[in-house]
Amino acid sequence: MSTTTRAAVLWGAQQDWKVEEMSLDDPGPGEVLVETAFAGMCHSDEHVVTGDLPVPYFPFVGGHEGSGVVAAVGPGVNLVEVGDHVSMSFIPACGHCKSCSSGQQNLCDEGAKLFDMHMMTRSAGDVSHRIGDSEAARFAQLGTFSEKLLVSQDSLVRVEKDLPLDIVALVSCGVATGVGSAVHRAEVRAGHNVAVVGIGGVGINAVQGAAISGARRVIAIDPVEFKREKAMEMGATHTYSSMDEALLAVPELTWGEMCDSVILTPGVVTGDQIEPAMNLASKGGTVVVTALAGMLESEVQLNLFMLSMMNKSLKGTVFGSGNPRADIPELLSMYREGVLKLDELITNRYPLDDVNQGYQDLRDGKNIRGVIEF
Ligand SMILES: NC(=O)c1ccc[n+]([C@@H]2O[C@H](COP(=O)([O-])OP(=O)(O)OC[C@H]3O[C@@H](n4cnc5c(N)ncnc54)[C@H](O)[C@@H]3O)[C@@H](O)[C@H]2O)c1
Ligand SMILES: [Zn+2]
Ligand SMILES: [Zn+2]
Repeated sequence: MSTTTRAAVLWGAQQDWKVEEMSLDDPGPGEVLVETAFAGMCHSDEHVVTGDLPVPYFPFVGGHEGSGVVAAVGPGVNLVEVGDHVSMSFIPACGHCKSCSSGQQNLCDEGAKLFDMHMMTRSAGDVSHRIGDSEAARFAQLGTFSEKLLVSQDSLVRVEKDLPLDIVALVSCGVATGVGSAVHRAEVRAGHNVAVVGIGGVGINAVQGAAISGARRVIAIDPVEFKREKAMEMGATHTYSSMDEALLAVPELTWGEMCDSVILTPGVVTGDQIEPAMNLASKGGTVVVTALAGMLESEVQLNLFMLSMMNKSLKGTVFGSGNPRADIPELLSMYREGVLKLDELITNRYPLDDVNQGYQDLRDGKNIRGVIEF
């Protein structure tokens, strides 16, 4: 027995997404069949289109931000049951590896397999998703640009049923990563000056995370005016169109203190953005690199003398350095209590067949976040 579904897939880099019919096996041990409700259109899928994120195998099902309803469960599934509403975490959390058991689920050993052939297969090695005769790879072992998907229960976080499923989708990547970049990784505290560079679905949530944490000034930097306006609605206090413009104004604005933290969330981060970000940071300040660079990029411009003598830190982060099983329910609870604004994040909704239009709107700077509605 197998189920058929429709999914947006890539057959190679530099190509459009194509909606194809795909067949799924029945759930095996530990696996769950989910009917997708919403999929968020994160920039990370765009990296596969541009080739910045080279994937090992095509056809490749896009999407790693998502929500849905459990339709069937395989043997041994004990975390969800049929009818449960779920958020799909792009980092699986097995719960028992060293990282999971020490409060670093974002570094789960299962997650380390996301960039190899396990993107495609079940952990047992059998293929579960096929398009015609071809095995299909899936973004982050998910592939949420599909009406149905078969996933490990490790990738699912059960949520309360009265929460809107579009919001449940957004928290699974953009919100968790953005808020976490400010709260967990930059450790923003009351009174801090914080700069966020790049106001998309991730950066806007770093702005919110910094504001909620009590930052004195939240400086949002983006070349697109609409993004800067949106940032002011979501907690920013000042905006600039580039780091160069900010570097001229922030010394006076902060009475020479500069920024306790600088969070880099542009669509693509490049090595030449590190030096201006470090210069925006204060003595003892921190630069958090959240955005992805081309996978093979290894050149960085960085004054090492100033790094040590100004006691600065340069940190990467995956999933905002949070724990999906703790953070996703917590962020949803903050939304419910009105602490986090999440309805405001969705700029446009698209049917699956319009996925290419959605990504064109992302490239054109029209969306804070676009979502595919199933
Ligand atoms: N570390 C992680 O775990 C993680 C998780 C999710 C996404 N990401 C990455 O975060 C980045 C942001 O994702 P997104 O979905 O928010 O992207 P997005 O395309 O929605 O937003 C990017 C924003 O950056 C702005 N921008 C581009 N160049 C800029 C520059 N030089 N200076 C200032 N702003 C600039 C754009 O105008 C846009 O508003 C991507 O690289 C994505 O792959 C990382
Ligand atoms: Zn993402
Ligand atoms: Zn684990």
